[in-house]
Amino acid sequence: ITIRQATAHDLVAMQNCNLMNLPENYQMKYYYYHAMTWPQLTYVAVAPSGEVVGYVLGKLDEEAPADDMNGHITSLAVLRTWRRLGIAARLMRQSMLAMAEVFNAKRCSLHVRQSNAAALHLYRDTLQFNVEKIEENYYADGENAYSMRKYFNPED
Ligand code: ACO
Repeated sequence: ITIRQATAHDLVAMQNCNLMNLPENYQMKYYYYHAMTWPQLTYVAVAPSGEVVGYVLGKLDEEAPADDMNGHITSLAVLRTWRRLGIAARLMRQSMLAMAEVFNAKRCSLHVRQSNAAALHLYRDTLQFNVEKIEENYYADGENAYSMRKYFNPED
């Protein structure tokens, strides 16, 4: 599996991967917006066949002041047959590395469904995110979200 920065040519495959794996879906223009604005923060996992089997869609928090940059994971998914191989962890680490190195971000935030055991394991146990707060009714079907955060420098 190769992890590489996504290009404009990958966006349709990423959208398909999102549609197959998550109920939170986005218009194509939102994928373009990410890839054109923060190209360093969006990665795809590509199988030897060339198939896109996973993606991470990352951005900067647009409200944050320049001296307090904050990265945000908009969406992450790995195709079912390619799970439990460490692909999501690699995608996340690539995006977070670029948040820190390219944009000088101090931390990364994301939202995750309270019932999403796989993603919670990844964020909390593998990547050491903390639960910042619970956002009630965050999802369209009424489920609550954990708002999670990770500081890149553990002393922050
Ligand atoms: N149950 C428990 N733990 C799990 C599970 C599971 N079903 N799946 C993975 N893990 C653990 C792994 O064992 C690993 O733990 P370790 O570091 O202790 O060994 C850790 O989570 C990371 O595993 P990866 O192999 O890197 O994760 P994977 O490539 O399988 O992808 C993902 C995880 C993205 C959550 C995948 O299950 C998926 O695509 N799910 C559907 C879409 C989704 O829920 N995306 C996240 C939504 S939140 C957001 O987008 C911001």
